[in-house]
Amino acid sequence: MKLTINEVEHDLDIDTRTSLLDVCRDHLGLTGSKKGCDHGQCGACTMLVNGRRINSCLTLAVMHEGDVITTIEGLGNPDDLHPMQEAFLHHDGFQCGYCTPGQIVSAVGMLSEVADGWPSHVSADVKNGTSLSGDEIRERMSGNICRCSAYPNIVDAIETASA
Ligand code: FES
Repeated sequence: MKLTINEVEHDLDIDTRTSLLDVCRDHLGLTGSKKGCDHGQCGACTMLVNGRRINSCLTLAVMHEGDVITTIEGLGNPDDLHPMQEAFLHHDGFQCGYCTPGQIVSAVGMLSEVADGWPSHVSADVKNGTSLSGDEIRERMSGNICRCSAYPNIVDAIETASA
């Protein structure tokens, strides 16, 4: 199968029953996405497929030939962090850090969903997420679990990054 991940095309000869998460972690060395539950409940494995959030543990890699797949490694790097990564650092939006890649990728996808979902008459500021309340952020991020309960700082980080 051919997969395009973080703008790099990979030609893979692997079992077609392999999840997208396992392909990334076990075959491509992209270990930023984490395996928490492996059955769609924690969000640690969140990736973007064509800009939309998915739990990569729940989908077979072979289903994503031709898709644009982005993992945490594709959002930024230590020398050029994504604004969401900067915001999480600034607000200490983590404790152990295990859920953090999924939280950040999910937050980026969430803001994109919000921007796309607003009616056309809504202003650019609102579309960019500045009007999202903390409660709305918590609801929209409810698929990403943090066992350390760093939620207040995670919400603060997302509010900052969306402003
Ligand atoms: Fe995929 Fe938990 S590892 S949702």
